Amino acid sequence: MRLEGKAAIITGGASGIGRATVLKFVREGARVLVADINLKQAEEVVAEVSAMGFEGAAAAAQVDVSNFAEVEATVARAVELFGGLDVIFNNAGIAGGKPLLEHDPELDYAPMIRIDQDGVYHGILAAGRQFRAQGGGGVIISTSSIYGEQAAELAFSYSAAKAAVISFTRSAAFELAEYGVRAVAITPGRVGTPIINQFSDDLKSTFAAEQLRGVMTEPEEIANVVAFLASDESNVINGTVVRVDDGYSSFKQRFNLPVF
Ligand SMILES: NC(=O)c1ccc[n+]([C@@H]2O[C@H](COP(=O)([O-])OP(=O)(O)OC[C@H]3O[C@@H](n4cnc5c(N)ncnc54)[C@H](O)[C@@H]3O)[C@@H](O)[C@H]2O)c1
Repeated sequence: MRLEGKAAIITGGASGIGRATVLKFVREGARVLVADINLKQAEEVVAEVSAMGFEGAAAAAQVDVSNFAEVEATVARAVELFGGLDVIFNNAGIAGGKPLLEHDPELDYAPMIRIDQDGVYHGILAAGRQFRAQGGGGVIISTSSIYGEQAAELAFSYSAAKAAVISFTRSAAFELAEYGVRAVAITPGRVGTPIINQFSDDLKSTFAAEQLRGVMTEPEEIANVVAFLASDESNVINGTVVRVDDGYSSFKQRFNLPVF
């Protein structure tokens, strides 16, 4: 098992990519604190873990990642439960947006930055301090997005927050290397979770066609990569972006180009 004996926090662990990663981590031998703003749904994921036969491998905690004190308390809770911390997956996030010129800054910029950007900063800072206090070691994985590397419809604030996640990852890897900490960002493409599933079937088909296999990515496929990145098998992957986008960022569009 890849993560035998490891203790992890997964923010946004109550749904989608986070939930799939909780289930993967416990199968790989980890103990996981499922940290989410939605406590009821986090507790349901913990019940799912027990039903899978991993009683006691997961616990739930309510956290609003936009609040640093709450994130620090989440790290303290994981240490209290598990005796230490080895991995934090900064994955909680919200989506949504408006055309830039329709923005109300208080509604369409600030919340996105507070959750998708500050939330990751808070996780890196609180976990980084814990890793140092333990004498070093530790892995920080943070969820960016394909939109962290490009412009897209209605994504002005989201793209900014997700680009910051990539920058945080580089800087954290650089600053925390002396403590033996690794930091990696992932950029999912189109993943079948509530964020995307709210859209029409037509739009979802278009999304699927933007990836090389022509299907929506399953959250479990992202979780498999995160488990690898959290494990010692990926010790050489540090300070970088791992594109889990099924080729989205490698091509623009398929043409019926005549042979010439
Ligand atoms: N689904 C995709 O196609 C896709 C693509 C690229 C990036 N992402 C990113 O992946 C991450 C997970 O998204 P998902 O698709 O699994 O969506 P999701 O909605 O299924 O899960 C997001 C989770 O984050 C939690 N959350 C929201 N605000 C929070 C807060 N302030 N504090 C703590 N928890 C909070 C929610 O309660 C939810 O459980 C997000 O960062 C998202 O931006 C998703």
